[in-house]
This record gives sequence, structure tokens and C-alpha cells, in this order.
Amino acid sequence: MKMLENRIAAEGRVLGTDILKVDAFLNHQIDPVLMQAIGKEIARLFDHDRIDKIVTVETSGIAPAVFAAAELGVPLVFAKKKAAITMTDENYMADVYSFTKKETNHIIIDKKFLSAGERILLVDDFLANGQAMNGLLAIMDAAQASVVGAAIVIEKAFQPGHEILDERGIRLESLAKIADFKDGKVIFA
Ligand code: G4P
Ligand code: NA
Ligand code: NA
Repeated sequence: MKMLENRIAAEGRVLGTDILKVDAFLNHQIDPVLMQAIGKEIARLFDHDRIDKIVTVETSGIAPAVFAAAELGVPLVFAKKKAAITMTDENYMADVYSFTKKETNHIIIDKKFLSAGERILLVDDFLANGQAMNGLLAIMDAAQASVVGAAIVIEKAFQPGHEILDERGIRLESLAKIADFKDGKVIFA
């Protein structure tokens, strides 16, 4: 998606070897015009896939996911992050290890918001190590929901997250795909 790549090139900052800071339009300040275009693009890509519901993880997945959900005319459910929680009958829960923050969180979704056989589109802001996707997939499995695909705003293709989806044969659509960072610059795939 050219508009997104242009914004990343203009406003993204590469930190260290593998982090892209995009807090001017995605992770802190949010640009609703860009988010709406992202939502439209995700909806276009999955227009013929009879999506019942979009699922993401709080916090940064919510902005792109809500615009995609509005375009597709479906509800959005976001998994909530909890530091520690005891499993209850009402919730699905999965562990998510963050390589960036070096901590394990639990993500939970209330069982009443997922049904067996529902056709789910997963959405997230970044695909890096894929731990968030892994957690969401575990919850989708527990709910016996059917994962139709994953839509990612920014994929860092040099990190292993995409393999988790490849292995399961889940369709992955990344609106911006980063092959590498070189001398502080973003190299798109
Ligand atoms: P994963 O998202 O593929 O599981 O990878 P990882 O464990 O590495 O990511 C942990 C957190 O760091 C996630 O946010 C993820 O979106 C974010 N992240 C990973 N790589 C980058 C990057 O290059 N730039 C930015 N800005 N974020 C990155 P989170 O902990 O779920 O936080 P939230 O922002 O959704 O609240
Ligand atoms: Na995220
Ligand atoms: Na994030």
C-alpha cells in the first residue's frame, strides 16, 4: 500500500537493528485518514471471504481493526491483556511472550464473543515474532472458530512471525512489508 509506505518512509524511525517507531500515525498519535484507507484496503482484500468478525489484541491493533470492521460491516473483538489471571469458565486465555518487552502477558477473550464456526479475520498493527498471532490462534482453536486470514499493517518479513501463519496455511496480507533496515532506512520487500 503506497500511501502507507510513504508515511513509513517519511515519519518512521528505525531504532537499533529491528524496531520501527511509527508513533506519529499508528502507535501513539493516530491518523484517522490513513487508518480509514487501511480499513478500506483490508476490506477490499477480504471482500469475498464472508468474514463474520474481526479479532485483534489491544492496544495498537484496535485502530486499524475498527476501520476494517466498519468497512466490512462486522463486529470487532479485541483480546484484553492481563498481567496475571486465573482461567475461568467465561474466558478463553492464551500466553503471549513479548520479545520486545521481555515479559509474558495473558490475553483473554470472553467466550460469549466467539462462536464455533465463525469466520474470523485477524488484524494487527505489527507482525514481528508472531507471538500475538500465536496467542490469538490458540484462542481461535479453543473456540473452534475458523480463521480465514490475517491482515497486518506492517510486517517485518525478516522476523519469523509469518512462518506461524505459513505453517498453518493461513492467508497473510501485509499492507507494508519490510525486508530489512539498512543504515537507519526502511527497505520494503
Ligand atoms: P509480535 O507482535 O509479532 O508478537 O512480536 P513481538 O513479541 O516482537 O512484539 C511485542 C510488541 O512489540 C507488540 O506490541 C508488537 O506490536 C510490538 N512490535 C514489534 N515490533 C515492532 C516494531 O518494529 N515497532 C513497533 N512500534 N512495535 C513493534 P504490544 O506489546 O502488543 O503492544 P501494543 O502496542 O499493541 O499495546
Ligand atoms: Na500489536
Ligand atoms: Na504494538
